Amino acid sequence: MDNRPIGFLDSGVGGLTVVKELIRQLPHEEIVYVGDSARAPYGPRPAEQIREFTWDLVNFLLTKNVKMIVFACNTATAVAWEEIKEKLDIPVLGVILPGSSAAIQASKNKKIGVIGTPMTIKSDIYREKIQLLDPNCYVTSLACPKFVPIVESNEMTTSVAKKVVYESLAPLVGKIDTLVLGCTHYPHLKPIIQNVMGNSVQLIDSGAECIRDVSVLLNYFQINHNRSDGHKHQFFTTASAESFREIAEYWLGIAIDVEHVKL
Ligand code: DGL
Repeated sequence: MDNRPIGFLDSGVGGLTVVKELIRQLPHEEIVYVGDSARAPYGPRPAEQIREFTWDLVNFLLTKNVKMIVFACNTATAVAWEEIKEKLDIPVLGVILPGSSAAIQASKNKKIGVIGTPMTIKSDIYREKIQLLDPNCYVTSLACPKFVPIVESNEMTTSVAKKVVYESLAPLVGKIDTLVLGCTHYPHLKPIIQNVMGNSVQLIDSGAECIRDVSVLLNYFQINHNRSDGHKHQFFTTASAESFREIAEYWLGIAIDVEHVKL
């Protein structure tokens, strides 16, 4: 057993969709979360800059004595996960592999859509990983650069959000039976996405899927947290603590403390 916290990183509030699943599936575990909202969105940035920012987040989490790091960000996973996991001596998980296997499991007609940030889609990593597992899958990818700013500004339930999601996803409607939400910000828009795609399309939340892997690793290395009481989750943001707290408390349904941090 290991009572150190698990570290989560994201460009902003997207990783909270992953944290919500951790709290649901592994309620004994303690969390340190860092979101880089001051520099979000990462998706349109050059790979080199995303790599540098991801290292900043990782180095911050390492100062918090974490036992494992979850890249709760597809963009950081696409660009920097392979490199960073090799350099650390604690387990480092990304969200892309779990999302890919879950999509294959869910699809009946092997027509899978993937939506993500410009960098995640440009990297073509979902198609690569899905087809590596099942070459018969046909993957249609689509960048949705307008989604993250809507979530970061807490406008998920507005009519603007509905219009943007409706217009952005139009090219995918009727073409797939499974859609990977390949950005951890997108589950914040899930009801609208489901509505646009129709109920017959299965939505895959890559972040939520990755918590299953977290659980497997905790068991494998026998590093589960052994207490269920006295948790002190820690949340850090590079932007406004107040606005982060508002989104996080609404999403997680618990009261939390948030600290501003400068990386
Ligand atoms: N939440 C992130 C992802 O999963 C990044 C969004 C962004 O900053 O562009 O890709």
